[in-house]
Amino acid sequence: MSKTISIDGQAVAFSDGQTIMDAALAAGIYIPHLCHNPEFKPHGSCKLCTVKVNGRNVASCTMPAVEGQEVLSDTGELNAERLVLTQMLFVEGNHLCPGCEKSGNCQLQAVAYYLGMMSPHFNHFYPQREVDASHPDVLLDRNRCIYCELCVRASRDVDGKSVFGLSGRGIGTTLVVNSTSGRLGDTSIAATDKAMQVCPTGALLVKRRGFAVPIGDRIYDHLSIKDHLSIKEVQTGGDHE
Ligand code: SF4
Ligand code: FES
Repeated sequence: MSKTISIDGQAVAFSDGQTIMDAALAAGIYIPHLCHNPEFKPHGSCKLCTVKVNGRNVASCTMPAVEGQEVLSDTGELNAERLVLTQMLFVEGNHLCPGCEKSGNCQLQAVAYYLGMMSPHFNHFYPQREVDASHPDVLLDRNRCIYCELCVRASRDVDGKSVFGLSGRGIGTTLVVNSTSGRLGDTSIAATDKAMQVCPTGALLVKRRGFAVPIGDRIYDHLSIKDHLSIKEVQTGGDHE
């Protein structure tokens, strides 16, 4: 008999080694997340996936599933905390959705809609961040970076290039490019790299593709991020692209 945990009262099967997030995703249960991608080792930085386990707040993407856990996720309290975290991400960077070509395909925007975010609430920091357009096929707009490190992990672990890294701390954190000039044009990154497919925002974009899919026909234009993930799980049986 398989082991189970309970998520919001629903019995969810899991196997040894799975996290609460893994078990939830396999069961088609959406727990909001941004720095997590099932293809990579969890990172646990955005805290959006925080759930309550037996009364304690934990990051579901890093917490192993253990038989008998009572997990609460879709609660007013936790969603209110997720909303604040999301609003902070918006004001810490420069996320101008109406002018961003990732609009409709952006996980940060989709999570904000899912959580019912109607305004950023906090004062904008309007940080000065650099755009790197030095590469012929790839653009890095640091204004939209949320420091999830997915590109760092993908470039290092899949592409074998280690093009990206994080530098600095707190508000001084920045996404750096590993080349002598510090510019993308002097790296071996390619538009087909895994690093170019994992960015949850519009920080990393392939050039000349911005409007290949018109606004209105994009991933989250018709489906919430929750419904999109559930359908994807059913279609792939838990195997993500
Ligand atoms: S560029 Fe994108 S994938 Fe890379 S750290 Fe920033 S938000 Fe994450
Ligand atoms: S998704 Fe778990 S901490 Fe970001």
